[in-house]
This record gives sequence, structure tokens and C-alpha cells, in this order.
Amino acid sequence: MNLNLNRHLHTPLYEQLYTQIVNQILTGLLQEGETLPSLRTLSEELMISYLTVNKAYKRLEAQGYIEIRQGKGAQVRTKKEKQKAPVKKYEWQKNIHSNIMRSQYFTHRRSFFYDFSQAVVFPGLLPSFFLAEETKKMIDKNKAILTTYGSVQGDEELRLEITKYLKHFQQIQLDPKQCIITSGVQQGISMIAHAFLKEGDVVVVESPCYGAAIDVFLNKGLHIIPLPLDENGPRMDLLEDICQKQIPKLVYVNPTFQNPTGMVMSKERRIDLVELAEMYQFIIVEDDSFGEIYFDHQPLPPPIKHYDSNGHVIYLKGFSKTLAPGLRMGSLFADGHFFDLLYSAKACTDIGSPLMNQKVLLPLLQTKRMRDHLEKLKTALQLRRDRMIAHLMQDVRQSIKFQIPRGGFNLWLRLPDEVDTMELLHRANLESVSFLPGAFCFHSVPKEQHIRLSYSLVSERDMEVGLSILSTQINSMIRKRN
Ligand SMILES: Cc1ncc(COP(=O)(O)O)c(C=O)c1O
Repeated sequence: MNLNLNRHLHTPLYEQLYTQIVNQILTGLLQEGETLPSLRTLSEELMISYLTVNKAYKRLEAQGYIEIRQGKGAQVRTKKEKQKAPVKKYEWQKNIHSNIMRSQYFTHRRSFFYDFSQAVVFPGLLPSFFLAEETKKMIDKNKAILTTYGSVQGDEELRLEITKYLKHFQQIQLDPKQCIITSGVQQGISMIAHAFLKEGDVVVVESPCYGAAIDVFLNKGLHIIPLPLDENGPRMDLLEDICQKQIPKLVYVNPTFQNPTGMVMSKERRIDLVELAEMYQFIIVEDDSFGEIYFDHQPLPPPIKHYDSNGHVIYLKGFSKTLAPGLRMGSLFADGHFFDLLYSAKACTDIGSPLMNQKVLLPLLQTKRMRDHLEKLKTALQLRRDRMIAHLMQDVRQSIKFQIPRGGFNLWLRLPDEVDTMELLHRANLESVSFLPGAFCFHSVPKEQHIRLSYSLVSERDMEVGLSILSTQINSMIRKRN
């Protein structure tokens, strides 16, 4: 089995083992009916005691993740509908070592009608018609766009427009020469992992955190230390404690309208983070996927990169959330030697993003249309946020706790402990409703029950129906347990 235990962490080995197996079950890497290795085999493989493995298996059994039967060993039990037996034909592939420790939650996703699980914009709110028209004109004028490779660093014109955009919308002055165009922010995160991280390195992430970043770090075999958040963002006092014990190589943050909580990191904490990075010499990865999607015209602190004078911050900005997820365009800004290393990582990844996808963004970024579009998008999203909150307050007010997000796409709800969110998801899926269970935003199994509801994708009408279904299920699960 592909497991990675660290004897230097404070978390006991049996708990690390338990967490990693649960993650593999929840994300579909281990499927219903699969047999786990015997206690002896696993203890030999991982060089840990038989008792440690036994303790982890007993906990998995108590929590309903596996069933241990005499003579049959430990078999995975998911809480999903009964699934077909795994295809035996490719069983041999499971003996080949892979780097995948935790799978993307959405790898095997079905589509759901009332989909609150994806932080994606409702297509009608995006300027698709304009982009399509402009793309046609552009290709007619210059067919070379289709017959030429883009450069590794990315289109010069686009890099310049992105820096102007960032100056206007994020009040940050960056140099187009320090920019690399990426295929989305996600590719930027992967490139950073590729360039800097190796098995055993320590990485600090917000807790909870954007799940696909956790996946990148876990799959690299890194040791992840969670950093709790409060209403002002990730706790810098706790980060300092961590640094005093074990200096991380990298700290990943999503400081503005954080996914999943919607929280905004205060200006003071942004400054403190840069000071800590300078003191302990670690890299800050600033994922700014949502920074310009703010409501209520409330001023926001500038990006962390604004406070960086020594090249500690690698800044990531994407356009999937504001313009066109189908283009998957993003950008990365880094200084000094880091820029050179990331340039090389980009070359190893794909030798440059598709030229056409880059050129398509230009007609919009270059006009006032972009400003108007963003204003409309923010108004529509704010309306959806308010509707979602009003609906939940009417139907499940007593059972939920949340902070009102001042921007972004997501509402992060705390549910009563007795509501098992995986069970809730299973029931919701049967009625074509989906959401993101909180467990995917933590690298270890969380003690509290959370769900993330995205108000960005479903139409306003469907939101009402989908939330009614979900509220009924939450209420019935609470009643049943009482
Ligand atoms: C915080 C965060 N970072 C990165 C991404 C990926 O964005 P992109 O489409 O630019 O790769 C997402 C998408 O949901 C996100 O929420």
C-alpha cells in the first residue's frame, strides 16, 4: 500500500496510518470490498509494530470504514451505495508503486443537478459570447496563433496586460518580466512542488485548506503541518511556534476569500507572515484565486506579495474564477533565482501554455468591458450569497454556524457533530444534490462536521430547490439521532 509515515511528527503512528487509509477510502483510491494488507504484512512493510497497525485497523472498524472478518481479513466498507465488485483484470496494477497518496475528490465525479460542490461560476454570468466573437476575429486575422507554439514563459502581451490588471484590481505593482503564464493556478502549485519540494519536506497549510493543494503536497510525500485559522486568518503565533520546532520549507496560503472558509487574512497578519518568512527563510505561496471578487465595496488589504521585498512570496493569480474556466489561464510571479527555477519547472511541465488560450484573454483584459463584467459578476454573486444565507436561516438556522463571506464563492457551514457529512452527501446525491464535505479540506480526519456550499454555480431557481432538499435531509438526520 502507498503509505508514508513520519516518526518525527507529534501525531502518533497509528493515527497517521488511520488518517491516510481514511483519505484513500474517501477519495476512492481504496474501494468497497478491497482487502487491506494483513497486520503482519503491513507492519513489516512500514517497519512499525503489529500493535500499531492493529490499533489503526480497530479504529477504522469502529468508525465503519472497514469490516474485519475471521479468515477474510480487513475489507473496505464505504458509506456509498453498494458498488460493483472491483474489476479483477487490472489488479496487478495495484502492486506498482505510485505517487498518488490521496486522490482528487472529483476524479470519478457524476454530475448533479443541484451542484453546490464546485467553486465555478454559473456559465450565464461569464462573457462567453464576447470571447467567442473576439476569438473568431482574432484567428481570421492571424492564423499563426494556431500554427505556432507559445513560449515557455508565456505571451509577452498577455503578461503585460495581467500586470496592468493586477495594478488596477489588486493595487499591486508587478513586473511582467517576472511573470510566467500557467495553465491555471493549480498548475502553478504543481510547478512549485516540482521545483522545490522533495519527500519528507515540511509544508504548512491553512486548516482547513483548498483540497487540491493538499493533494499536490501529499502526493509528493511531504509532511503537512496544519495551521488553524481564526477570524483574522491563519494564526501567526502558532506558525511561530511551529517554526521554533521545525522550520517549514514552504507555507501555502489563500489569504483573500479563502477556499473553503471565505475568510480574509488581516493586513497585520500578512505583514507578520512576511516577517516570519524573512526570519526563518521559508517560501510563501500566495494563492490569490478570488481576490477581486469582493462584495459591499469594502476595502481589502493588498496581496501579501505587496509586502515582500526579499523574494519570499510566489504569487499566483488565475482567470478561471472571473472569466473562462475552459481556458484555464493563470499566472505566477516570482523573483530572483526562484523565477529561474520555476521557469525550468514550467518547461518540464508543458514547455509553455497553449498560445491560443493566452491570446483569447487579450481582447477582454484590454478593455473597459472587463471592469463592467467584474462589477456585474460581483453583484450577481452577492445576490446568490444572500439568497443562500436567507434560505438556510429559514430552514436550518438552529443547526448551523457560519461566518458571512465578504467575497468569493463559498459558504463554510459547521453542522452538529451528530450529522455525518459523508452520510449526508450520500443521501443528498440520491436526490441529485451535491456539496463538498469538509473532510476534503483537511489533511487529517477532522473532529468537527463541516460542509462547503458554493453559491456560484447553480441558477437562482435551482438554488431554492436544492437547498430545500438539503435542509430537509439535515433536519431529518438531526431528528433521527435525538
Ligand atoms: C484556492 C484555489 N486555488 C486554485 C484553484 C484552481 O484554479 P485554476 O482553475 O486557476 O487552476 C481553485 C479552484 O477552485 C481554488 O479554489
